[in-house]
Amino acid sequence: MSPDVLEAAARALAGARRVVVVSGSGISAESGVPTFRDKDGIWSTVRIEDVATPEALRRNPRKVWEFYEGRRRNMQAVQPNPGHHAIAEMEAVFGEVVTITQNIDGLHQRAGSTQVLELHGSLWKARCLDDCGATRDPFPVPAAELPPPCECGGVLRPSVVLFGELLPPGAMEQAAQDAAECDVCLVVGTSGAVWPAAGIPLVAKKAGRITIEVNPADTEISADLDLLLRGGSGEVLPALLHRTCELRT
Ligand code: APR
Repeated sequence: MSPDVLEAAARALAGARRVVVVSGSGISAESGVPTFRDKDGIWSTVRIEDVATPEALRRNPRKVWEFYEGRRRNMQAVQPNPGHHAIAEMEAVFGEVVTITQNIDGLHQRAGSTQVLELHGSLWKARCLDDCGATRDPFPVPAAELPPPCECGGVLRPSVVLFGELLPPGAMEQAAQDAAECDVCLVVGTSGAVWPAAGIPLVAKKAGRITIEVNPADTEISADLDLLLRGGSGEVLPALLHRTCELRT
C-alpha cells in the first residue's frame, strides 16, 4: 500500500461527514470466505447456470438449495475480520456511514455496522418460491429438508438475488441517492464486474464525490476512481481509519 495514497485517502476522509462504503466479496476473504472470480473463486468450481439463476431454481430447486446450504454451513464458523470492524467503527467517527454491500454473508452487521443495504439479499433469509408472501428471517441452519417446504404447500427459496433477477425494490434507487450525497465513497473488495452494483461508485464519482478503491488488484472500475489503495482490506481499512482519526484530532 503506497503511503502517499494512504495519506491522500485519509485527508479526504478526515474532511468527510457522510461516507458510503460499497463492498464486495473481497472484504470477507480474510474471514476465510471465498470470492467469486479470483483464482479458486466460487465460480471456478461451480457453474452459475447450475446454481444461481432463476431457471436453475425452477428446474432443480434442491440443487440450488444444496449450493446455498453448503455456503450457509461453511459460513457459520466464520467471523468478521478487521476490515469489517474498521467499517463498523467508522460510524462513531463520521456523521453518517452507509454500507452498500453485494455480500449476502451478514458479516458487516455482525461486526456492528447498523446501516447496511444488502443489494443481493441474504443467506440467512428464505422466502416462498411462488411469492405467496411467506418469509423466514432468520431461516435456521441447517435446513431440515431441501428444498424446504413453504406453508402454502410450495417450497421456499433462498432470499438472494440470482443472476438475471432484479434487485430488491428500491435498493438501487436508495444506493444511488446515498452515493450521490456522500462526501467520500470507499469501494472495497469488489471486481466491479456485476451490474448494477458496479455503477454505484460511478454515481458518486459523477456527482463529484471522492472515490477510493481498497483492493489488492486492479478492477473493472479502477480507472474511473480517484484513489487506489492496493492491499487487503483487513490491513488497509484499519490503517486508513487510524490515520484519518489522527488527522481529525
Ligand atoms: N481485500 C480486499 N479485496 C480483496 C481481497 C482482500 N483481502 N481479496 C480479494 N479481493 C478482491 C479481488 O481482487 C476482487 O477484485 O475482491 C474482489 C472479488 O471480486 P469478485 O469475486 O468478482 O466478487 P464481487 O465483486 O463481490 O462479485 C459481485 O458477483 O457472482 C456475484 O452475486 C455475486 O455479489 C457477487 C457479485
